[in-house]
Amino acid sequence: NTIESGKVTWESPSNIALIKYWGKKKDQIPENPSISFTLNNCKTITSLTFSKKENTTNFEFEVYLDGEKKDDFKPKIETFFNRVEVYLPFLRNYKFKIETKNTFPHSSGIASSASGMSALALCLMSLKRQLNPDMPDAYFNQKASFLARLGSGSACRSIEGDLIVWGRTGVIEESTDLFGVKYPYKVHENFKEYQDTILLVDKGEKQVSSTVGHNLMHNHPYAKNRFQQAHDNFKALKPILESGNLEAFIQLIESEALTLHAMMMTSMPYFILMKPNTLEIINKIWKFRQETGLHISFTLDAGANVHVLYPKNEASVILEFIKNELVAYCQNGHYICDQIGMGAKQL
Ligand code: PMV
Repeated sequence: NTIESGKVTWESPSNIALIKYWGKKKDQIPENPSISFTLNNCKTITSLTFSKKENTTNFEFEVYLDGEKKDDFKPKIETFFNRVEVYLPFLRNYKFKIETKNTFPHSSGIASSASGMSALALCLMSLKRQLNPDMPDAYFNQKASFLARLGSGSACRSIEGDLIVWGRTGVIEESTDLFGVKYPYKVHENFKEYQDTILLVDKGEKQVSSTVGHNLMHNHPYAKNRFQQAHDNFKALKPILESGNLEAFIQLIESEALTLHAMMMTSMPYFILMKPNTLEIINKIWKFRQETGLHISFTLDAGANVHVLYPKNEASVILEFIKNELVAYCQNGHYICDQIGMGAKQL
């Protein structure tokens, strides 16, 4: 099959883990299962322009972010191409132009690796489908997630929505280490359109790359217990999602967030990725929750920013509180309102 040239565009969202992926084996196989909310507004939009070339010795591609050439993105993409070439044997036959932009401000401290790598994986799958038109739809998403995983582990959870599981669990039969799958069981109304307001506490470069972070779980004194805990939390989460028990949900996800940071504090070398304002925000959230009985909670990524999570039907009061009390702790008052989303879209 010959396709001379063309262009495909995908938008793909970021996601926020409830049970965290932290620690991996070779080939981006996670040490424990994770589950995330797919986001709706924080997205990467990537266009892939391709044209057939004669010489097939090298990969040939250029990368643009917001219209500006970005040579510093090339090594990461080169590594990705090398990893996925066995599945995409046409990679050396085309010259590529990768044009990408994010809906969230860059250097916001929001990782664009999940949205960025999933968007690129989807573009490459679109080309693969043009070359193999009989490809079934189900295979397309699975394979896109599989490829995204090889770019950045958590990216495999960004292809679809709204709740995605990655990694073999004892409780979800279809779960696998190889790609993300939709959470297959009943989820209570309480989690519908769940809100995530992201407070940008520190927009600087990440102190620790996630690659370094995952590696620190090798020879980590608490690794074995942590991986077991993630499995146990999966078992606990199923009845919580089914019954809509928000108190139990909050307890589980806040513990997961703090455990992620505890792992970084207890590795060698050790890191503190929270900032004073991260702790101010957490304490304010706890106080407000105690005073009002509302179901406001938080989770964290591998950084200082705080994801404030809450149910849709409490949104107006909680958003008011966030604006009045928490935004003051954000760098330049920056925050992003998001909610659970349904995954990537071809444009
Ligand atoms: O996808 P990576 O390798 O950047 O790892 C991200 C890990 C966390 O964001 C900290 C947790 C998670 O499960 O997304």
